[in-house]
Amino acid sequence: MHWTTDRSAPSVGHVVITKTRSPLRSSVGLKAVMAVSGIFLVLYLVAHMVGNLKVFTGATSFDHYAHWLRDIGKPLLPGVWFLWILRAGLLVAVLAHIWAATTLALRARAARPVRYAHRKKVQGSYAARTMRWGGVIILLFVIYHLLDLTTGHLNPVGDPSKPYANVVADFAPERWYVTLFYTLAVVTLGFHLRHGIFSGLRSLGQQTPKGERRNRAIALVVAVGICGGFLMVPFAVLTGLVS
Ligand code: HEM
Repeated sequence: MHWTTDRSAPSVGHVVITKTRSPLRSSVGLKAVMAVSGIFLVLYLVAHMVGNLKVFTGATSFDHYAHWLRDIGKPLLPGVWFLWILRAGLLVAVLAHIWAATTLALRARAARPVRYAHRKKVQGSYAARTMRWGGVIILLFVIYHLLDLTTGHLNPVGDPSKPYANVVADFAPERWYVTLFYTLAVVTLGFHLRHGIFSGLRSLGQQTPKGERRNRAIALVVAVGICGGFLMVPFAVLTGLVS
């Protein structure tokens, strides 16, 4: 509860009472949730992408690295605790990101009950308009990807203790459609990252033309770097560079 001078709010005697939102549910709070969860997810993506490049160092080295990931935190943490803490963190970040995005989108829609008869071109870039669908495609890709390379259910080798063999079997030339699917998903992720990073930077800094140009450049470099790094692995296997 909160005292206010808002004349439209219900009043008790001279005192006017309104309910206030918790700071987290305010628009600024929701954008902060988007940013914090987004930064965490981007850091994970960078680490994952760099780790994937170890595939170029050969089967023994890549498999050793994958097994080492399960040992992080030992002996402080028992067993594969670190991995499960990371997985829980990722899940919370993904859910928070979706919740904040959906709440902000619904609020924006409610603020404009009459839809524009003609959507103007200036309303946003291609990436801005496709953020929602992009997010859905990325989520579906991650579910497929987990069944493919983490649990092995959709992988021709499907042995979680042999990640190198799983990756090589996955992107073999005769399974070119898997590389195509991964490429489409990673490019969608690239558009999502470019727009997300650009919007986040814009909310933080001054909106001068120079600042906008700098933010656009940073977002493009990060998105292309992550996308390019991810795509190197499937294409290296497809072309026989990694076998
Ligand atoms: C396109 C190239 C990619 C390759 C070659 C690749 C490879 C792999 C491999 C081999 C694993 C299993 C690691 C292990 O169990 O030791 C894995 C797990 C995972 N990947 Fe990817 N990945 C790619 C892209 C992505 C993208 C774009 C995302 C997210 C949008 C992603 C998210 C994940 C997640 C969440 C896991 C599960 C980690 C865990 O908790 O065990 N990957 N990936």
